[in-house]
Amino acid sequence: MLTRIKDLAQELAPRLIEIRRHIHSHPELSGQEYQTAAYIAGVLSSCGIVVQEAVGQTGVIGELVGRTDDRLVALRTDMDALPINECTHLEFRSRQPGVMHACGHDVHTTLGLGTAMVLSKLGEVFPGNVRFLFQAAEEIAQGARWMVQDGAMNDVSAIFGVHVFPSIPAGSIGIRYGALTAAADDLELTIMGESGHGARPHEAIDAIWIASQVITNLQQAISRTQNPLRPMVLTIGQISGGRAPNVIADQVRLTGTVRTTHPETHANIPAWIEGIVASVCQAYGARYEMNYRRGVPSVQNDLALTQLLEESAKEAWGSDRVQILLEPSLGAEDFSVYLEHSPGSMIRLGVGFQDKPNYPLHHPQFEVDESAIVTGVVTLAYAIYQYWQQPG
Ligand code: NI
Repeated sequence: MLTRIKDLAQELAPRLIEIRRHIHSHPELSGQEYQTAAYIAGVLSSCGIVVQEAVGQTGVIGELVGRTDDRLVALRTDMDALPINECTHLEFRSRQPGVMHACGHDVHTTLGLGTAMVLSKLGEVFPGNVRFLFQAAEEIAQGARWMVQDGAMNDVSAIFGVHVFPSIPAGSIGIRYGALTAAADDLELTIMGESGHGARPHEAIDAIWIASQVITNLQQAISRTQNPLRPMVLTIGQISGGRAPNVIADQVRLTGTVRTTHPETHANIPAWIEGIVASVCQAYGARYEMNYRRGVPSVQNDLALTQLLEESAKEAWGSDRVQILLEPSLGAEDFSVYLEHSPGSMIRLGVGFQDKPNYPLHHPQFEVDESAIVTGVVTLAYAIYQYWQQPG
């Protein structure tokens, strides 16, 4: 079966590159993927896949029906671009000024379509049902929730995902056990003191100085009260307050982002932060308001499904082209939202060039080595096929 999948993917390669370049030239921002969605629906229909449009706003679902329906596997790919002006010299560069596929979601969409095309050609041999999720608005961490709300995860027993990775060479696959990405939450704090003359601090409550104590205490407390093996990053990215150089500020507003990978740490953070803020404020007579908003959770790759991906990739490409990633990323990825509904695992697909420098994701000169498309399609198609070779 592996040889058959490899042959099919190889045959489709020119068409897949054409698809990828078309999507790359016509990028659309999060939640506005109308043309991309219509294009995806067209390609899926042409290979006999049942298509449902406008799922999760501009998302698309394709259903491939197999011999049995005891289990349903989903493959999620995302399709939105970024508000970045592309600075490459590619002939198929963005035709939309200020919008660019700088995170490789054009490649992800192509991988979703390529996997659907390959599996649909296996015909009667194919063992079970597969649902292809083409998700909108990943960059604003909304699309996965929209998909789930519209029932995209109903009856799903396992879900796979993929993200390109320029620091892994094309032809190789990155596999990660456990946490792949971090939970990303938003923090908003207002410290309220009492205004007064800059020359008479004892008659006022200085919100700027207290805010500085809050920041310092939070940062130090991470190193002394949080388990160092469970990473936490707290960044206050904005601070504002005060009226004049000689007036003590009565109010300061702080906003930031909080990243964690361990579910227990994630669960406990709001109370931990509030405890520190409350004690600092109380010590100096200030009041505070805290607003903590949960963003997307951490992607926690399922052990059995990650093993399945690792074994499928090794069988397809050999052990030396499969990297076991030792560290998670503290970036966020809304694939985690699907994992609240079924176990799943996400791979990192190497797209790095061997013979020239690789720009990072979200860079205006980001490029991918397109030979990775076949690597990705074969790995995903074979892992999905292998899923039914395991006991249910
Ligand atoms: Ni991305």
